[in-house]
Amino acid sequence: MKQENTAPLRVGIAGLGRLGKRHAEQLARHTPGARLVAACSPVAEELDWARETLGVPRLYADYAELLADPEIDAVVLVTPTTLHADQTSAALRAGKHVFVEKPLSLDVATCEAVEAVARDYPDQVAMVGFVRRFDPSYARAKAAIDAGQLGRPFLVRSQTCDQNDPAGFFVRFAPSSGGIFMDCSVHDIDLARWMLGNPKAVRAFASGTIALHPGLTDCGDVDNGLAIVEFEGGQRAMFYASRTLPHGHETTTEVIGTTGTVQIGFGAHADRTEFRNAAGVQHTALPDFFARFEDAFRLEMEAFVAACRGEIAPPLTLSDATEATRIGQAITESLRSGLPVAIA
Ligand code: NAI
Repeated sequence: MKQENTAPLRVGIAGLGRLGKRHAEQLARHTPGARLVAACSPVAEELDWARETLGVPRLYADYAELLADPEIDAVVLVTPTTLHADQTSAALRAGKHVFVEKPLSLDVATCEAVEAVARDYPDQVAMVGFVRRFDPSYARAKAAIDAGQLGRPFLVRSQTCDQNDPAGFFVRFAPSSGGIFMDCSVHDIDLARWMLGNPKAVRAFASGTIALHPGLTDCGDVDNGLAIVEFEGGQRAMFYASRTLPHGHETTTEVIGTTGTVQIGFGAHADRTEFRNAAGVQHTALPDFFARFEDAFRLEMEAFVAACRGEIAPPLTLSDATEATRIGQAITESLRSGLPVAIA
């Protein structure tokens, strides 16, 4: 299914919720080399939105019908996490390239089964959406590490922290998200692997607490979680995830090396304005992950389309998804058991 470089990639999107609508807008309006030709959702209003707002011509309530459409080259999956693995395999078997939002699955064996399917279709791109790799600041830090500017990087401290949502949307979402580590820290886990050069993880320990949302107790989740991961060769990573920040969304990462360190994203600045007065120094904080990573979402979709068109190698593979799930699963198990978990 490799595309001629001149032909636009014909994309069908599945899932038009909170994030799916954003991806759809990117594909319809801002992604060079792509045309959003179809959309799929079981919710009629979402399909109406795709037709009326973006002019998407072909609309499907059933994912199997989307895959049966011969005029689609690539599928973008922004559906609930529990559907990702089966829908990825089905897209590959239908001859489509596939972009799947993170996480691929909450379970390592399921990730590996999807990887096995992908091996049967080596000419099709299968890429997982770890969007932070496309953020210009993270990319710059990674380039500096690769150029040796930190010496030997041995420690990553990384956090994903959301502003508190008193309505507790994520409490309802928690049973299907796999919990705070699989939902939020999976990004930090991927970043740690990337920044440290993909070392093998050997052990994880996690703890957490419920600061504001007791509704999480029923599904064994927390609204503030901490984890330490040990890698073969001595590298270490520390992760913090929170749903209860009072001021805004604050995703930060620090990489510590033998001759230097780099910090990314500290301060949660929404822009470059700061006010100083008798009360102190103030700036506006980022409201949510999309405001922080808007550019990265655009660049991520551009990279997927370029990979499908044969212009670049896929920057992320399903194996990256499997390894992040392997670590995320061990962390989650440790949170529940209270014990360190060996990673096979
Ligand atoms: P959502 O619940 O708002 O949207 C899910 C969408 O899937 C809805 O449009 C729903 O109608 C549709 N859907 C449900 N069953 C379907 C089916 N069988 N076929 C086609 N469509 C179906 O969820 P949200 O927040 O948009 O998250 C979607 C995925 O994106 C999740 O896996 C989540 O982990 C991931 N995500 C990734 C982020 C990132 O930073 N990369 C940020 C937010 C979400």
